[in-house]
Amino acid sequence: MTPHYLLVEIYEIFARDPWCGWGVRPCADIPAGTFIGEYTGELLDDTQASERHDSTFLFETRVGSETFTIDAKYSGNYTRFINHSCSPNVKVANVSWDSEESQLVHMCFFTDKLIKCGEELTIDYGESWWENKKFPCLCGSDECRYRFGK
Ligand SMILES: C[S@@+](CC[C@H](N)C(=O)[O-])C[C@H]1O[C@@H](n2cnc3c(N)ncnc32)[C@H](O)[C@@H]1O
Repeated sequence: MTPHYLLVEIYEIFARDPWCGWGVRPCADIPAGTFIGEYTGELLDDTQASERHDSTFLFETRVGSETFTIDAKYSGNYTRFINHSCSPNVKVANVSWDSEESQLVHMCFFTDKLIKCGEELTIDYGESWWENKKFPCLCGSDECRYRFGK
């Protein structure tokens, strides 16, 4: 069996459509429960986050009991290109490293089901993310909650 860590080599960023921009898909079948990657970027406190003009790549996290934000716009990895779906196939897990003193909550992505080669990887951005958005969701799911916006 192929070790899961080798699978990081096989994701491709593709042009989804002009409205949604880039997306991510695997070039091989990915079993359920596979670690996809960690959402990385600049770690910002609330003040710094509120000064960012572009909220496209902001993702909320925590350090201990405090809220922080990860901004993947200027530094980050391919997970920042994962789009939203109301029927997602990837789950976000809040992970803390045992040995880490900073108590940063790492946002780690895992497949929620078998994902076939070429099928787009998607997560649920959550209700608060859709709160102030001026565009409709284009996920195409029958269960789409934001097709007319929020
Ligand atoms: C974290 S980025 C994802 C990558 C993005 N597609 C790109 O090309 O950079 C989030 C942005 O992608 C687009 N997006 C993601 N999911 C979407 C959806 N279901 N419907 C419409 N736009 C979506 C929106 O423009 C959103 O602000």
